[in-house]
Amino acid sequence: QETRDQGNIRVETRDRVGLITLDRPKALNALNKATMDELVAAATAFDADPGIGAVVITGSAKAFAAGADIKEMASQSYMDMYAADWFRHWEDLTRLRIPLVAAVSGYALGGGCELAMMCDLIIAADTARFGQPEIALGVLPGMGGTQRLTHAVGKATAMDMILTGRQLDAEEALRVRLVSRVVPADRLLEEALEVAGKIASASKPIAMLAKEAVTTAFETGLTHGVQIERRLFHSAFATEDQKEGMAAFVEKRTPDFRHR
Ligand code: HXC
Repeated sequence: QETRDQGNIRVETRDRVGLITLDRPKALNALNKATMDELVAAATAFDADPGIGAVVITGSAKAFAAGADIKEMASQSYMDMYAADWFRHWEDLTRLRIPLVAAVSGYALGGGCELAMMCDLIIAADTARFGQPEIALGVLPGMGGTQRLTHAVGKATAMDMILTGRQLDAEEALRVRLVSRVVPADRLLEEALEVAGKIASASKPIAMLAKEAVTTAFETGLTHGVQIERRLFHSAFATEDQKEGMAAFVEKRTPDFRHR
């Protein structure tokens, strides 16, 4: 259970769970390039680590993240943005196969809301506030917000949030299905670690297949998705953990998954 301070984030492990905490309190965890590079690198390392089965990404009590770093972006030209392909690398987070749990307390605005939506499920503290305020800055969401928010909550709420900047509190976010659970703020981390721990107690390769299957529902149509699901289901039978899981059921004992 070690803690590594990487500058803008803290990285810890709790048994089979990786914990990444955004730690730029003076800027309400605004996501500058350095922070996102550290975050993507830490999550990528957990993805590759057979000893880690799920990752929690969290911020502070006041802010999960108050957006992309406005001060870093303010003077960029079109060519700067285009040449750097700004935000492309951040999308790498969504290509990871390990389940990602966002634990959101306080502000999740702009890129902060988009970062939460890049995770596989969101657990919100009752203090959480979700919003896409970019329109007030003369821009629009640029880290997948117009797409992932619309997929998650539908057109009516997405248009309302993106065109007016209206924020959702935790209860409304639950009602429109942006988040999976709402918990008291003082229990947020505990609950998120418990959910991630539950996921990490399963077979890692099987959890990765399940994540891939659900992600396919999000990204493609039903016919293709059902085909992918069947192939992934069949491939589960190539794992030792499928043998162990089913044998354990038959023998009325707890499975001992080896994550292979
Ligand atoms: C850079 C930020 C920041 C941001 C806050 N800060 N948000 N710096 N980028 N996104 C800095 C402030 O400048 C300030 O620094 C310090 O953090 C504390 O913030 P305050 O505003 O003083 O705090 P408070 O009054 O409590 O207000 C909190 C807030 C407000 C409502 C969250 O900070 C706010 O509106 N932030 C911007 C939210 C936003 O527009 N996000 C979208 C970003 S655009 P100093 O040095 O003054 O103390 C975006 C691009 C999308 O995400 C494209 C795709 C990613």
